[in-house]
Formats: sequence, C-alpha cells, structure tokens
Amino acid sequence: MVLGIESSCDETGAGLVRDGVLLGHAVASSMDEHARFGGVVPEIASRAHVHAMGPVVRQALAEAGLRLADVGAVAVTTGPGLSGALQVGVAAAKSYAYTLGVPLYGVHHLAGHVAADTLEHGPLPDPCMVLIVSGGHTSLLLVRDLARDPIIHLGDTLDDAAGECFDKVARVLGLPYPGGPAIDRAAREGDPDAIRFPRPLTGPRDDRYAFSFSGLKTAAARWAEAHNGGSLHVADAAASLQEAVADVLTRKAVTACRDHDVKTLVVVGGVAANSRVRALAQERCAAAGIELRVPPLKLCTDNGAMIAAVGDLLVRAGAQPARLDVSIDPSAP
Ligand code: KG4
Ligand code: ZN
Repeated sequence: MVLGIESSCDETGAGLVRDGVLLGHAVASSMDEHARFGGVVPEIASRAHVHAMGPVVRQALAEAGLRLADVGAVAVTTGPGLSGALQVGVAAAKSYAYTLGVPLYGVHHLAGHVAADTLEHGPLPDPCMVLIVSGGHTSLLLVRDLARDPIIHLGDTLDDAAGECFDKVARVLGLPYPGGPAIDRAAREGDPDAIRFPRPLTGPRDDRYAFSFSGLKTAAARWAEAHNGGSLHVADAAASLQEAVADVLTRKAVTACRDHDVKTLVVVGGVAANSRVRALAQERCAAAGIELRVPPLKLCTDNGAMIAAVGDLLVRAGAQPARLDVSIDPSAP
C-alpha cells in the first residue's frame, strides 16, 4: 500500500492506494487563511502544512481502517509548486519512509493530477489526452504509460492559468475568493451571450495548443469598470467569462485529440469542476466521437490520493525509488 503526500500549494493531502484502488484519503486546506489576501501566501501555506501534515495522514489511515505499519511505500510531490510548501511534504515523506523502512518515490504534481482519474475510472487508455486546468496550470498533455513513458507536453498557458483568470475577475466583480466556484454560481443567473469576451489564441495562425488568459482577464476587468455604478450585471459578466474560458479550453482540447488521433480526453484540476467546462466538453467530445473522463471533484483539486496513485503505478512498474536525499524541484518542467 502506498501513502501519497501532497503539499505543493495550499492543500495538505494524504492518500492511500493499493493496486489502483483508493483506500482512504484526507485533505486540509489553508484556503480560508489566504482569502483576505486574495491569493495564496507561501509562508502561510508552509506553516499550515506543518500543522496539518500529521493529522491528515492519521485521518487518511483512520478512514481506510489501517495503521502506519501497513504502509509499504511513500510517494510525495517534489514539484512543481511553492518551495516552502513542497519542503514540508518532502520532509514528512522522508521521515515516514525512513522510520518505516520503506521505499520513497518522488512524484511530479501534474502526473498526480493525471493519475487521479485512474482511481475513479480505472487504468488510462494508451494514448490519452489530458487537459489540466487549475489555479496554477493550464496544460495539454499527451499521456501514454504514466509509469514508463515521459508525458508529452503539447502546450501551456503563456500567462495566467484559467483558474487564476476566474479568481482575478471574481475579485473585480466583488465575488468571494476562490473566484472559480463563485463565478460558476453567479453564472447560473446570467446570460452567456450578454458580453462577447475575446477567445484568445483561437485564430488560424495561433499556436493550436497554447492558451492565454491575461487578455481575457483585462477585458473582463475593463468591462466591469466601465459598467460600475448601477449597470454592472455580475451574473451576465460571470456567465460570459465562463463561456469564453470553456469555449477556448474545450475547443483546443478536442483539436489536440483530433490532431493526434486520440480517442479519450481526461479533464482534471480545480477548473474541471466548472459546470460549463464540463457540459461543453461533454457536448464537443460526443460530437467528435471522443470519450470524456472527468474525475469527481474531490480528486480534481489537489489531494494526496492522486500522488499515491502515481506511487502505486511506479511500484507496480518496478520503478527505481528515490533516495532519501531527494530534493524538491519547485520549477519542475
Ligand atoms: O487544482 P486546484 O485545487 O489547485 C491548483 O491550482 O493546483 O485548482 C484551484 C482552482 C482555483 O483557481 C479555483 O477558482 C478553480 O480551481 N475552481 C473553479 C471551480 N472550482 C474550483 N473554477 C471554475 N469553476 C469552478 N466550479
Ligand atoms: Zn494542482
């Protein structure tokens, strides 16, 4: 059984996985402590990890009805992420591995997001396309065998991540942090066609797999400023922004599948929780004959189970464990 530990940003996660099966997991978030700053404060996140790590591991074990002695390997996120935050998880993982005398595996955070889906829907087909959309990433990945083959990185955002765009525009619209869920809720009462926000990098000459959300963010902020003082219709702005983001994300993901003759699209990360992103992805995948897989929300956002899932794949593939002096890699490519 693999104990997975995640601490790259503001979630402290522990998960237990054996042979592809999720046995238990627990997550603590310092999100509320960052709310008044409008974004994650690294120092606060690191301290919160220190406090939450032990309890979260014990909670995951309790949920699974297991003991620390049942842990056969430890997997931990080594990057990318906030360095102080990563340090806490890696130090904890080394301590567990050392005291239990079990192997330690370093895991790339994005491989974790990809593997999250296997805990719900079973092994990933080879190949599959993965769209990772969160507060920190917007990436298109071509995935073959997670434990053996390198992930082929097709494209990324050139500036802001999609979740960051939601969070920042929500702030301008006076919606609470984190902005993504608030925009999703507000959008229910709005008209997605009320404002035609730009669809960045969707022209014929643009990079097919690159994203850009900072212009969209600025356009939404300008619109909000111009309509402040009575005529600001938050619901319409939220619905229109959400439509623009969902349109760009799903259009590019389906294009990537078509280009590479891939029949399965996996959408993960916090923004995969967005109702319009899900609905439009479903619609466009169905039209293109592509199977869509979206893990449940608790596995979409940062968690330790997804890191344990990668560790479990590595163990079963006979991969070489990391050494106890493995270090963090905050800007891992
Ligand atoms: O994966 P995640 O928990 O953390 C990382 O950034 O790695 O993703 C958090 C992001 C935040 O930007 C949040 O606003 C966004 O996911 N998010 C959403 C929704 N739920 C969370 N964005 C749009 N609609 C949602 N329902
Ligand atoms: Zn993440």
